[in-house]
Amino acid sequence: AENFSRLPIVWLHFAECTGCSESLLRSSHPDVASILLDTISLEYHETIMAAAGDQAEQCLEKALQDFPGKFICVIEGAIPRGLNGQYMRLGPKGKTGLEIGKEVTSKAAATIAIGACAVNGGIPAANPNPTDAVGAGKALGISTVNIAGCPPNAVNFVGTLLYYLMFGALPPLDSQGRPVWAYGKRIHDVCERRPHYDAGEFVEEWGDEGARKGWCLYKVGCKGPYTYANCGHLRFNQAISWPVMAGHGCIGCTENGFWDKMAPLEKP
Ligand code: SF4
Ligand code: SF4
Ligand code: F3S
Repeated sequence: AENFSRLPIVWLHFAECTGCSESLLRSSHPDVASILLDTISLEYHETIMAAAGDQAEQCLEKALQDFPGKFICVIEGAIPRGLNGQYMRLGPKGKTGLEIGKEVTSKAAATIAIGACAVNGGIPAANPNPTDAVGAGKALGISTVNIAGCPPNAVNFVGTLLYYLMFGALPPLDSQGRPVWAYGKRIHDVCERRPHYDAGEFVEEWGDEGARKGWCLYKVGCKGPYTYANCGHLRFNQAISWPVMAGHGCIGCTENGFWDKMAPLEKP
C-alpha cells in the first residue's frame, strides 16, 4: 500500500482572473487549510506554490512522474487556440497552453474544469474573442467534470473531490458536464425572493421601493429562471450572502454560453 493517502492535484492556470482559486481559498466547510493539509496534495498551483521558474517546472514534471494516471488535473481558465495557441505561452520553456494542457491531462486520472472560463470559455471567450479562447474540454478534445460558475462555490469543487475520494468514481453529471448534486436545481426555484415573483412584486428600477423591500429582480434582468446552481442554498464567503440576496439579479454564470448568451446582464 502507498503511504500516500491524500489525492494529488495538478492545478493549471490558463486565460482567467484567478477568481476561482480565490473562491477556493475562502472555503469554509471544510476550510482551505484542512483541504490542503488533510484531503489533497496540491503538487502544482502557480499562485499558491512557493516555487517559481525552473523550480516550479520541476514540481510539475515530478508530479507527472510520481502519479501517472492517479492525479486529478484541475484547469482554471480558457485555452486560446488562435495562432496555434501562441496567444498563451507559459513557464521557462515557453510552451503554449494547448501543449501544457494536452501533456498534463493525458496523464491525469480525470480533469476538472473549474469556473466558467475553463468550462466553456467564459469571459475570455466573450465576443469578439480575438484569441479564439474556448473551454478546456473543447480545446483539448477531452471530457471534463465542469464545476461551473464565475467563480463557482468552493463547496461544489470540494464536494466533487470528496465524492471521488469516497466512491472512487466521479459523481453523476448533467448534460453540461456539471455534477447533478450541485447543479441539479434552478436558482429561481430555491430563491428567497420567489414569493415576491409569485405575488407579482418586482423591482422596477434600481433603488426603488421594491428594491428596498427585497422584491423579485426579474424585471431588472435576473437570469435565475434560466440558471442551474445551488448559490441560494450554500451562499458564498462563509455562507454569508449570494448575488440575489445582495440585491443584484443572477447573471447566469453557471450556464453554457455565459457571458454572451446572458447579455445584457441588467435591464433596463
Ligand atoms: Fe475568474 Fe470567473 Fe474565470 Fe473563475 S470563471 S477565473 S472567477 S473570470
Ligand atoms: Fe427568480 Fe431572480 Fe426573482 Fe429570485 S430574484 S425569484 S431567481 S427572477
Ligand atoms: Fe452565478 Fe447566478 Fe449564482 S450569477 S453565482 S449562478 S446567483
